[in-house]
Amino acid sequence: MSETFFVTTALPYANGPFHIGHIMEYIQADIWVRFERMQGKQVHFVGADDAHGAPIMLKAEAEHVSPEALVARVAAGRARYLDGFHIGFDHWHSTHSPENTALSQDIYRRLRAAGLIYARPVEQFFDPLKGMFLADRYIKGECPKCHAKDQYGDACEVCGSVYAPTELIEPYSALTGARPVLKTSDHFFFKLSDPRCVNFLQEWLEAAGHVQPQVANKAREWLAGQGEQALGDWDISRDAPYFGIPIPDAPGKFFYVWLDAPIGYLAALKSYFESGKARARGETRTFEAFLAAPDTRQVHFIGKDIIYFHTLFWPAMLHFAGAPFRAPDNVHVHGFITVSGEKMSKSRGTGISPLRYLELGMNPEWLRYYIAAKLNANVEDLDFNPADFAARVNSDLIGKYVNIASRAANFITRHFGGALDYPRGTAALTERAREVLERVRTSYAARDFGRAMREIMAFADRVNQEFDAREPWVLAKDPARREALQDSCAQALYGFKTLTCLLAPVLPALAERVARELFGLERALSFADALEPPRHINPYQHLMTRVDPKQLDALLEPPAPPPAPAAAAKAPAEPPAPAGPAAGTPISIETFKQIDLRVARIAAAEAVIGADKLLKLTLDLGGETRTVFAGIKSAYDPAVLVGRLTVMVANLAPRKMKFGLSEGMVLAASGADGGPFLLSPDAGALPGMRIS
Ligand code: MSP
Ligand code: ZN
Repeated sequence: MSETFFVTTALPYANGPFHIGHIMEYIQADIWVRFERMQGKQVHFVGADDAHGAPIMLKAEAEHVSPEALVARVAAGRARYLDGFHIGFDHWHSTHSPENTALSQDIYRRLRAAGLIYARPVEQFFDPLKGMFLADRYIKGECPKCHAKDQYGDACEVCGSVYAPTELIEPYSALTGARPVLKTSDHFFFKLSDPRCVNFLQEWLEAAGHVQPQVANKAREWLAGQGEQALGDWDISRDAPYFGIPIPDAPGKFFYVWLDAPIGYLAALKSYFESGKARARGETRTFEAFLAAPDTRQVHFIGKDIIYFHTLFWPAMLHFAGAPFRAPDNVHVHGFITVSGEKMSKSRGTGISPLRYLELGMNPEWLRYYIAAKLNANVEDLDFNPADFAARVNSDLIGKYVNIASRAANFITRHFGGALDYPRGTAALTERAREVLERVRTSYAARDFGRAMREIMAFADRVNQEFDAREPWVLAKDPARREALQDSCAQALYGFKTLTCLLAPVLPALAERVARELFGLERALSFADALEPPRHINPYQHLMTRVDPKQLDALLEPPAPPPAPAAAAKAPAEPPAPAGPAAGTPISIETFKQIDLRVARIAAAEAVIGADKLLKLTLDLGGETRTVFAGIKSAYDPAVLVGRLTVMVANLAPRKMKFGLSEGMVLAASGADGGPFLLSPDAGALPGMRIS
């Protein structure tokens, strides 16, 4: 057997539906899985719900249902999202399962036998009414520094100071209001500080390809921590009542949810093997044999907030548990998705609901393409910007890709009955397709999907330009130039087929339709098809509509306020957004860097009827254009602005104004002595250049 992949995404907490962050992660992993399969690799792609822990237990309690029932209800809603966005997990399981219990207890016993587990007493706040130890987020009280009331047990949201819950003044349980008491209980620890662990992790992080360089640096910092920052051993137990997996030989103790959660990856794989689905994919080995095989590649996709667990504890646990377990081959970390530059927050009603997206009839492949176009292999945040979304999808997918087929196919159907016969041969075209394919494959393999999309669109541009240059609509009128018509259309359609194969990991449903309806292929596309000139096409059928701005408006409308939840069910609220600094207050370079300043060329400028201060500017950002309403009419005649360069804030959330959508702002100086004076860069600057 050659290299086989076992791919996972982080297991989502089972206390609520998916949000756009989950969907983004799954789209990234799904594209990569489809890419590997298209080049002939065997891949098993599994996911599961992360069911355990105190928040789920408490939420179930507040709803008067069992935690199992709560988890089952959430699990029942998963398929709508996954199917809706064409996310093709082979199997979906749960950490609350017999497989996970057996594997977690087995791994624990192995670690204990290896001398990496010990017990020690821990003193902690306890809610005497509830009969339960309280995690920091369930304790509130007065901040010891600024005396703000009702602050959480770990940090003050008002003054930002960090402290231990025992430092709070007048502490109370957020669950019952009772005054917590200090109580001691034995906890189990995983000895991460053991030199064997530290040495192993240093080696694992050193080895090329396990994690991205930025991630290795972060993990090394933790490993090398000194004094206060020293790497502590890991508390892996929780006392009853707890919704979790019992610890062997320790009645009343459960594994902390983060111990059994990653083991859930293996539990999902085991259940997948036992369901017969792995066999259906041609995998004949047992779960254990597959896991232990040297050419099995264990690959995890996760977000940047859970690096700690996946690059320290998880590899060490697996390694020291021993065969068939092995440390992961890759942990691929992505940044967070933001919406119009804002962090998602359920409590503030921002973000976009994936279900609403689907219910509005928005095409899931638009989102897949947009995410692909904006992703690279670094740990960078990705912004969903509605105007940019519409512009990219409309210009790339409709204007460049679909456009080729919708224009070329009709000539072939009408004039040649669907037959393609390349009067000038196909060798040069195939050679060119091979080159693009190679480049795009390299980009996909490196998870630089953004580069892959740019390469694909550059190829689409060439195909379109060549097609236009031969003016087939003119050729079609002249029977003497039939051969030229055939050749220009056949070339374009060959290009279209190549493009379809290259885009198939991102647009699986569309590619499948094109293969079947247009090219008459009754099987999944592979990359080999990219180099096979089509010989016949069926009549073109409409492939994709443009993004409708009305749908985007509806998607971004803030949702109706949710009904007030029962007090005990309330998850800890998100900290309020910090108030903006007053003028002159220092900000960090990071804060400054969040502002995307760009050189822009004023492509058009006009007065706005009914607005005495505004000019409507069309700004060219080097390929992308934006509309901005600027309050500069008092100082500028629109005619003199056209053509000049200025500076714009490119990532300002678009704002709906009476006269239209404003997608950014231009920078100008003003003061007691006049203005506004528009800024302009020195000669040499080009539209789209970043200002820093
Ligand atoms: N249950 C844990 C993971 C256990 S893995 C053994 C967890 N769950 S989560 O539901 O909070 O997050 C699941 C995944 O979604 C994580 O990889 C997380 O980074 C990712 N995201 C959560 N918010 C996100 C964004 N705003 N953007 C992109 N991904 C984000 O953590
Ligand atoms: Zn404070």
